[in-house]
Amino acid sequence: MIALGCDHGGFTLKQEVISYLEANKLEYKDYGCFGEEACDYPVYGKAVANAVASGECDKGIIICGTGIGISIAANKIKGIRAALCSDCFSAEATRLHNDANIVAIGARVVGPGLAVKIIDTFLNTKFSDEDRHKQRISQIED
Ligand code: RB5
Repeated sequence: MIALGCDHGGFTLKQEVISYLEANKLEYKDYGCFGEEACDYPVYGKAVANAVASGECDKGIIICGTGIGISIAANKIKGIRAALCSDCFSAEATRLHNDANIVAIGARVVGPGLAVKIIDTFLNTKFSDEDRHKQRISQIED
């Protein structure tokens, strides 16, 4: 199950992401927001982060105008490694090296085509499971 969240700046892109998830028969839970009226990104970043941290969802996708505010908020939740990605190389590397459990996207930074590719890369790349990366990840929580 994939947790989805956005603020008003990410709402339109989130609809594109939903189309991609549905086309690929990927189950998701939408934690809002549900329109373009101005709202507060920490609410939605933390809702997705809590869903992933609790195990209710396996991974999360969060979107705001830049992807920055919502990723900062999500990363305040213990156990969350939210990676702001604007390219596919980073999306792949953050799964391989950081075992990132949330991808953050800036809807005003990348276009919808690239955003969906980034998300597809993120969802389809497994953690390397290498000891050096596990050790570094464990240091994040210390
Ligand atoms: C909203 O205008 C904007 O500040 C928000 O979407 C995000 O970019 C914050 O980091």
